[in-house]
Amino acid sequence: MTTADDVRRSLTAIVLAAGKGTRMRSDLPKVLHRLAGRSMLGHVLAAVQAAGAARIAVVAEPGRDDVAREIAALAPGSDVYPQVERLGTAHAVLAARAALGAGDDVIVAFADTPLVSGETLARLRAPLADGAAVAVLAFETDHPEGYGRVLTEGGRVLAIREEKDASLDERRVRLCNAGLMALAGAHALSLLTRIGNDNAAGEYYLPDAVALAVGDGLPVAVVPVAEAEAQGVNDRMQLGVAEAAIQARLRRLAQLGGATLIAPETVFLSHDTILGRDVLVEPHVVFDTGVRVDDGCVVHAFCHLKDVRLEAGSRVGPFARLRGGAVLEPGAAIGNFVEVKNARLGPGAKAAHLTYLGDAEIGGRANIGAGTITCNYDGVSKHRTVIGAGAFIGSNAALVAPVSIGAGAFVASGSVITEDVPDGALAVARGRQAVKPGWAETKRTALKADNAARPVKP
Ligand code: UD1
Ligand code: CA
Repeated sequence: MTTADDVRRSLTAIVLAAGKGTRMRSDLPKVLHRLAGRSMLGHVLAAVQAAGAARIAVVAEPGRDDVAREIAALAPGSDVYPQVERLGTAHAVLAARAALGAGDDVIVAFADTPLVSGETLARLRAPLADGAAVAVLAFETDHPEGYGRVLTEGGRVLAIREEKDASLDERRVRLCNAGLMALAGAHALSLLTRIGNDNAAGEYYLPDAVALAVGDGLPVAVVPVAEAEAQGVNDRMQLGVAEAAIQARLRRLAQLGGATLIAPETVFLSHDTILGRDVLVEPHVVFDTGVRVDDGCVVHAFCHLKDVRLEAGSRVGPFARLRGGAVLEPGAAIGNFVEVKNARLGPGAKAAHLTYLGDAEIGGRANIGAGTITCNYDGVSKHRTVIGAGAFIGSNAALVAPVSIGAGAFVASGSVITEDVPDGALAVARGRQAVKPGWAETKRTALKADNAARPVKP
């Protein structure tokens, strides 16, 4: 819903990301743990960007360079505010008070609640345009344990009670606070600065803004969200549950986009995986980050791909590993036990078996025989191999880079190629075969005689 007000008021997002998340038992801050190849913080930054935030303020533990680097990379215009002491969610929002403009709409998102979509954040904001001072995101659940309960009377919200402070009756309430909140800029500071810490945890609770707004006679809205989307991550089990949810979402999107996943539950996707129409993905494939698969490609079983582009109609696997800038032009094919890194295969080029192609340029329709290795690394630097269009590389060739094989050239099997091969030439670089007729029988007879003459061991 877009109103004239939305256009006039800009949206400020405050993302709470402080705290180690001790239950993760990790050296990494909780919010940098990844889901579908992107940190939880990254997912939340993407969601607030999608919701149209004009300004993003992230509240983080001071001195966390890793968190600051992630923010700079994913949401470069954002401001980072340190929260020196961790005194609660309202205290955290006030660490970013400089970002709160009276005329703005404010949404507070949690970096440990990574499944919330931009669309949901926009729904959370919407009641502000209709005059609400506060909007809370809430879900119904049969397992409310640990969550703040949304207390209502006659359909109107009264307060949010943290579990630690709730009476037995209040604990039976199944409507839970997802934690995220929208606040009208005109009221935000006045509400936040009045929040006290007189509660079981001795913390400044952001949800207390609800009771204060109700006390002021201001309208408070409750915006529903599915429990699965509101799920927070506090430990590795919940991280696993969130990963499963995100994978299910990504698989569904790939299928809706026209890709066939034969065994969807065995295919792992990243947040940025792009699969075109009529792409066929066999079981047990991992799409790490940076993969784009164009229309009509086939990814056979047990492949691992990262930073790869498969152009229309190309084929990969089974059991192939493609990474770091591999590009297959239309109709190119990579077969079993082949690794491709920073290499481009021209249209219709093939490497069907047991090969390493690294730092290479391979012309269209070239055929790379089984066991071919581009020797791209001399222990200090990487070097390129260039193979011309239509070249034929015999099995078990070692191409010692930098080296180039001309268009249409032949490389004999078992060759170690250290010098450039011109277009159309044959290069043979191996010992010449010698054949000695009858040698085997003579040798065997001599060996047997030797053996008979040796003394028998006691
Ligand atoms: C919070 C809500 C609870 C809600 C639940 C939903 C409060 C007081 N409680 O509880 O009603 O049901 O989320 O998941 O808000 N943070 C800081 N600084 C702080 C405290 C927290 O940055 O001083 C950040 C954390 O990094 C986290 C988020 O705020 O991203 C939520 O904090 P957390 O302690 O996990 O709150 P919950 O106990 O889960
Ligand atoms: Ca939490």
